[in-house]
Amino acid sequence: MIIGAVTTVQSALQVLFSREQIRHRVAEMGREIDRDYAGEKIVLVGVLKGAAIFLADLARSISVDNTFDFVAVSSYGKGKNSSGAVKLIKDLDQPIEGKNVILVEDILDTGLTLHFLRNLLEQHQPKTVRIATLLDKPSRRLEKIEADYVGFTIPNHFVIGYGMDFAERYRNLPDICLMPEDAGAPAGH
Ligand code: IMP
Repeated sequence: MIIGAVTTVQSALQVLFSREQIRHRVAEMGREIDRDYAGEKIVLVGVLKGAAIFLADLARSISVDNTFDFVAVSSYGKGKNSSGAVKLIKDLDQPIEGKNVILVEDILDTGLTLHFLRNLLEQHQPKTVRIATLLDKPSRRLEKIEADYVGFTIPNHFVIGYGMDFAERYRNLPDICLMPEDAGAPAGH
């Protein structure tokens, strides 16, 4: 039975951040953004697909006037480490010239993705560009890039849940969990 199978997978996983911890931290990030952008408008640009759930919760924690857009880039693919090459798959729908943009990402790892995207957005001459990431793994950084808003800083673990996947699975887990080594966590994590 499907429900039984899902329960088995979830109960075998080690929770790194529970849904309550995430909700609390995302609310704090929203308040921080509200303080920084009081009286301004912002465009939240989510990086598909991993940031979709974080963006949905973050946007509802923000009171300042905001709109959404999404971009998509090539990423880890089917469970392998990033090749280092980042390719734009889906561009912005709306112009961002003269606007306050916050790039919203699930996890800042090597930094290749956000380095590429920040440069790309800056070519559109926005008023400001900042980065909000739910997780930061600074130990694996290859590009010199830091986020302005960080939910949690974590060591070198491969994590799943709350939007984050392994070979496109587990995005729907409400908690952020550690990917078990014996289940094929990507090498180097
Ligand atoms: P970066 O370009 O190496 O910074 O990678 C960013 C992207 O890699 C994230 O948006 C995720 O899609 C993916 N990624 C990095 N670490 C993890 C992880 O632990 N779990 C799931 N996806 C990850």
